[in-house]
Amino acid sequence: VSARIDDVEVTLGENLVTQLKIAEFPNSFAAEPCKVAVVGFGTVGSSVARILSQRGLETLQLRYICNRNLSKKNVAGIAKQVEWTENFEDILDSDVDVVVELIGGLHPAEDWVRRALKAGKSVVTANKQLIANRGPELTRLAQEHGQHIIFGASVAGGIPVISGLQEGLAGDRIVKLQGILNGTCNYILTRIENAGLSFEQALAEAQAKGFAEANAEEDIDGHDARAKLTILCRAALKCDILPEQIAAYSIAEIEQLDFEYAHDLGYTIRQVSTAELHNGGILARVQPSLVDKKSALARVTGSKNLLVASGEFGGDTEFSGFGAGGGPTAVAVVSDVVWLAMNRQRSACNNSTPVRCRDVSADFDSAAYVRFKVDDRPGIIAAIASCFAAHGINIDSIRQQKGHDKSCLPFVITLESCRSSILEKALKEIRSLDFLVAPPVSMPVIG
Ligand SMILES: NC(=O)c1ccc[n+]([C@@H]2O[C@H](COP(=O)([O-])OP(=O)(O)OC[C@H]3O[C@@H](n4cnc5c(N)ncnc54)[C@H](OP(=O)(O)O)[C@@H]3O)[C@@H](O)[C@H]2O)c1
Repeated sequence: VSARIDDVEVTLGENLVTQLKIAEFPNSFAAEPCKVAVVGFGTVGSSVARILSQRGLETLQLRYICNRNLSKKNVAGIAKQVEWTENFEDILDSDVDVVVELIGGLHPAEDWVRRALKAGKSVVTANKQLIANRGPELTRLAQEHGQHIIFGASVAGGIPVISGLQEGLAGDRIVKLQGILNGTCNYILTRIENAGLSFEQALAEAQAKGFAEANAEEDIDGHDARAKLTILCRAALKCDILPEQIAAYSIAEIEQLDFEYAHDLGYTIRQVSTAELHNGGILARVQPSLVDKKSALARVTGSKNLLVASGEFGGDTEFSGFGAGGGPTAVAVVSDVVWLAMNRQRSACNNSTPVRCRDVSADFDSAAYVRFKVDDRPGIIAAIASCFAAHGINIDSIRQQKGHDKSCLPFVITLESCRSSILEKALKEIRSLDFLVAPPVSMPVIG
């Protein structure tokens, strides 16, 4: 139906007469389907193309797939009328409405996204590096050209956190975000915890099972999670920050021993990403942390993700599910394309543009866990305690398991709440003490 109706008179009951002025039918009823190009036919792109070919979404039509070396690709399950190309120019010259960018990385993804927007095509992407580093400028470019750029799959894979925060919780003022945003780290930590593996063994297993890439440094060092936290800070806290402003700490130092001590204290260990509004700025960090065994964070196992958004008015809302994988991520991408198909005519103007925030700090106030390995001799506890005391830090407890070699003796000191910056100063002094056989491992204690 494509008729235009003006001044329709509707009689409701005997007395009530209403006049409706309908200028146009909503776009969702438009006869023309939204034409889509998938650029990048890898893990996510091939799943997106298969969903678009098989799901029977009438509002969407997969027209093009673009990838290099197409002869190597498995094209089974893709609609026959789809055109395949190795040349991105074909996509720019085509009549597609939406370009789905799934090649990943900054180059050439950034250039291709810019050119697609300038050519009058909206963009859907799952590319966290691109959005974390260039998100605000690409959004402005999209607005200048009357288009949209949507990136729901760039954080937490299949979990609709971006739309949940921007639309579902639009009525609240989000003040804090906390969660587990990297499935690779969570898989490794839970395998150290449950199977007693070393960090190296757990990483090798994650790589063998496809939960970690061959080069997993981005994940292990917390850089992947901080890119996602950057995007969430803009979407929920309305603060425009850059990934490098967020302190990120590696999980590579965590051992089975740390889980034993953590369990003994009623905790477990997770890589936790946190950002909260604080005195006009933001406190943010990605760090392995002790979390209460009964908390939602502790219940996240394997490669799953969790985000808890705390609102000033509505309290805590939890989002959880599969944070990665071809299927879940592709569903998030297709959901974004469906939204675009229904809202193509909607203004790309955003009335809550994030504000640039320069005051980003990791100086949280929290209790802490510090694990030492020492060459045992009298006076060690006294020396460490006097360093903490000199910085006004109170010791909460000291724990030492039996049965370890005295030349590499581990023990743990838990500390009462103190600022991270002050703890760091004390640890800097402690690191120079000659009885240490390894640098101390410190983690905040959450909850
Ligand atoms: N996989 C996940 O679970 C997941 C979850 C959330 C978000 N994401 C994001 O989704 C995006 C895609 O990830 P993915 O896992 O699907 O990656 P992938 O499997 O490596 O797929 C990327 C595809 O793009 C192609 N490609 C790369 N550079 C190209 C170029 N210059 N020209 C033409 N084709 C090019 C690759 O071709 P070749 O095969 O020839 O290399 C490959 O087919 C990334 O931004 C990623 O961060 C992925």
